[in-house]
Amino acid sequence: RKTAPMPQDILARKGGTPLVSLTAYTTPMAQVMDGICDFVLVGDSVGMVLHGLTSTLDVTLDMMVLHGKAVKRGLKQSMMVIDMPFGSYEEGPQQAFRNAAHLMRETGAGAVKLEGGVEMAETIAFLTKRGIPVMAHIGLTPQSIHTLGGYKVQGRGEAADQMMADAVAVAKAGAFSVVLEKVPETLADQITAEVAIPTIGIGASANCDGQILVVDDMLGLFTAFKAKFVKRFAQLGDDAKLAVQAYADEVQARSFPAPEHVFSDKNPNT
Ligand code: KIV
Ligand code: NA
Repeated sequence: RKTAPMPQDILARKGGTPLVSLTAYTTPMAQVMDGICDFVLVGDSVGMVLHGLTSTLDVTLDMMVLHGKAVKRGLKQSMMVIDMPFGSYEEGPQQAFRNAAHLMRETGAGAVKLEGGVEMAETIAFLTKRGIPVMAHIGLTPQSIHTLGGYKVQGRGEAADQMMADAVAVAKAGAFSVVLEKVPETLADQITAEVAIPTIGIGASANCDGQILVVDDMLGLFTAFKAKFVKRFAQLGDDAKLAVQAYADEVQARSFPAPEHVFSDKNPNT
């Protein structure tokens, strides 16, 4: 691929080859996934993953701008989507537009993501009609953790109808895709079959139109806890620990730095 996809290209992948996506928060990690991921999400998970916060509620617009700028510098062939943080869009369409425009202008993101279903449909329509592509996010919406009462599976039993209504509402409002987080597999499949926009699963179903994971989770870098839906494709946290210990050992043994790491006063070129 030569150029980054646009929201229309993502939309056109409905029912096709699954969309591949991950979160990123820094330039080097964005470079690793550039051209492999269809889109890269600057998630508000940055607060927990990189800043040691206990929820995403404390993440600010300024933090999203800073990390969004960093990620954008690492991307040439993947689209960048950026999360609207808690408190930056819930008041209404005008507030949402102002802050979404700020995020896109400052970071160069191609789209924003916001949490919510039926109750956010008006805002999603307002943004999309005014040039801001929106990815919706329903199911477990971490910014609502205090009203949801915990990070539990959403949409079980009677709650399934409401979640289907949420998916239909955000699609009708013009969202170009919708993240389904922590919903039962059968419900995720029903939503995927029902709506005309791509569903992006995280703790949902392999039949979704795409998948997303938090990059530090799938690399084994974030190890404070592991959700059931996380698969660790590498153990970089363990590797880092071993590397730090090896460094400490060599420093104390005076075997690092070795001759090739130090400078002679004779040859100015080395
Ligand atoms: O912030 C985030 O990482 C997300 C993804 C898990 C979808 O919203
Ligand atoms: Na998020």
